[in-house]
Amino acid sequence: MSSISTKRTIWPHPDGSACVQVLDQRCLPHEVVVQDLRTVTEVVYAIKEMVVRGAPLIGATAAYGVYFACLEAAQATDPNAYLTNAIEQLRESRPTAINLFWALERQEKAIAASADFAEKATIALATAHQIVEEDVELCRMIGVHGLPIIEQLSAAKHGETVHILTHCNAGRLGCIEWGTIASPIYQAHQKGIKVHVWVDETRPRNQGSNLTAWELGQAGVPHTVIVDNTGGHLMQHGMVDMVIVGTDRTTRTGDVANKIGTYLKALAAKDNNIPFYVALPSTTIDWTLRDGLREIPIEERSPDEVRYISGWDGEKIQKVLLTPADSPAANYGFDVTPARLVTALITERGICPATESGMLSLFPEFK
Ligand code: MRU
Repeated sequence: MSSISTKRTIWPHPDGSACVQVLDQRCLPHEVVVQDLRTVTEVVYAIKEMVVRGAPLIGATAAYGVYFACLEAAQATDPNAYLTNAIEQLRESRPTAINLFWALERQEKAIAASADFAEKATIALATAHQIVEEDVELCRMIGVHGLPIIEQLSAAKHGETVHILTHCNAGRLGCIEWGTIASPIYQAHQKGIKVHVWVDETRPRNQGSNLTAWELGQAGVPHTVIVDNTGGHLMQHGMVDMVIVGTDRTTRTGDVANKIGTYLKALAAKDNNIPFYVALPSTTIDWTLRDGLREIPIEERSPDEVRYISGWDGEKIQKVLLTPADSPAANYGFDVTPARLVTALITERGICPATESGMLSLFPEFK
């Protein structure tokens, strides 16, 4: 049995108070720091500043934010106005991951069942817990459906190592447990299939070198960190058997928004005849959109994330300037990979082509 940690990325405070705890992902892999979130302001800060990140985890954290909003509203002079404003702040915390808006909408519908704010808080807490438990199961099932892809590649290679390239972090740290892309990889590793993961460092926030490498290491999964420009070279030399990435928002036609740089990996995969998979829970599908390039809002973050880099100096995390002090920088957080470059989508209900009819065959309720 491998040493995969089952620890979650968000959990209720053990003292039973109105508080959830999260891992501060800005400190990984150098320090494991747990943050308490007790207020709407703290939740908004955690999402904006990427204490928590990754589409499903952003959604789950925001769901707890609605619970805090109900508690705070109960003490306010105008509870309804307070709640509306608090949910708006949560909605504005990050623009691209649809899970955020999905979780807020689900909470709004749930708490509408009562006019009493104490009751609303109880409902919101239960709904947040449900969202968390459901995400664990969705990700586990993505692994169940994705595992045969890795098994087939392994069989085709007569049991030789299957080399998988990934970008950003769509592992358990981006979710609650398991992860989306990581779930089939962990399940393959647990079955004794030889896998090795090429981990794109994922500038500028380095989710690959900081987070994916850390969690794969914790789970004992062989991996190698590469700079973002290496993937094409590896693909040209037969060193990648498949690419698998997560997504922050996928349209009903199969266009995939994911961390900036994903599109270039998809192009290189296409040119080298390497399958390019996207692993996603259905909570990441935006059924209202058809044209990913035009319609998915792309986050632009501070240029300082490009101009500076953080790392461990042996004692603490330090931030240093990389660029000329007066050079401007641009920081687009995501790009859109058109559906035509996606081999297939791996969801909790199975695998489908990245097309509207393919997606509807698994999710007919969205016809
Ligand atoms: O900016 P981030 O770190 O929140 O971006 C995360 C990603 O792009 C992930 O690939 C995506 O959210 C899927 S997480 C299962």
